[in-house]
Amino acid sequence: MARTAANDRPQAALASPEASRIEDDRETVIVADRVTAGYENRRAKTRLIALRDVSLEIRRGEFLAIVGPSGCGKSTFINMIAGFLKPLEGTMTVDGKPVRGTGADRAMVFQDYALLPWRTVERNVQFAMENRGNRPSKAEQAERVAEALGLVGLTGFEKAYPHELSGGMRQRVGIARALVTKPAILLMDEPFGAVDAMTREAMQAEFERIISQTRQTVIFITHSIDEAVMLGDRVAVISNRPGTIKEVVDVDLPRPRLEGDAKSSPRFAELREHIWSLLQDEALGAKEAK
Ligand SMILES: Nc1ncnc2c1ncn2[C@@H]1O[C@H](COP(=O)(O)OP(=O)(O)OP(=O)(O)O)[C@@H](O)[C@H]1O
Ligand SMILES: [Mg+2]
Repeated sequence: MARTAANDRPQAALASPEASRIEDDRETVIVADRVTAGYENRRAKTRLIALRDVSLEIRRGEFLAIVGPSGCGKSTFINMIAGFLKPLEGTMTVDGKPVRGTGADRAMVFQDYALLPWRTVERNVQFAMENRGNRPSKAEQAERVAEALGLVGLTGFEKAYPHELSGGMRQRVGIARALVTKPAILLMDEPFGAVDAMTREAMQAEFERIISQTRQTVIFITHSIDEAVMLGDRVAVISNRPGTIKEVVDVDLPRPRLEGDAKSSPRFAELREHIWSLLQDEALGAKEAK
């Protein structure tokens, strides 16, 4: 496979996942152990393997960003943590127990928004709190909905229906819906993909601030390397399908990063370039395989 010049440069400063495991003693909350996942096509009697032999440990309160080429299995991975999909091989555990379905401890922001078209914005957000054992009172629900909509900049659109919103606004309703239950684990599949650059940066800053307060565990898929480095404690780089973990990069930039303008630091550029070169290898690999 063709290698880029960037890859030949010394990368000693980029710590390995093993190193980070030793340095950080926070308890492990999500464990993927040799997970292979895929989809059966019953009609054609074929099976597509999306991810192969993926092992990864995520600690409580950690922000793990995931990057990788389109179709490499990122959504598949996050869907297994959410409990929408089971591994074909290996195990996925959350809090020491194999995932057997969805749970109130995990909330998902979907890549395609997944809003209920017949419900208004506020009723879509409120939906996350319904049908739950420890449901907050009506007054508290209303308060939380208003707070979550405020965080994503949608105050004033409470009574609008999804079809009356732009794509980016719909995506923000999805984010509000995930934040409103204050889950221990936030699963986010390209949550800022549909918003413009300025809004995106404002939301990243706000999100970094919220997460630093709530200490939630976040798994965050993105196509933006800058976003992964700005937000992640680590960045997992996934290879082409069948996806495997190519490298887990430690992001040793101080926080807050958005307010602190981490983007202009030389270390940011270094990390960005390293991840870029890993992904470029994958792009080249895909071309060669054709
Ligand atoms: N429900 C499904 N049924 C059959 N195949 C699927 C299904 N969902 C995903 N796949 C296949 O699994 C592979 C991985 O898909 P996945 O959605 O996990 O990729 P991704 O990394 O999230 O891509 P993107 O960045 O484009 O969102 C793809 O080849 C896709 O065609
Ligand atoms: Mg996806």
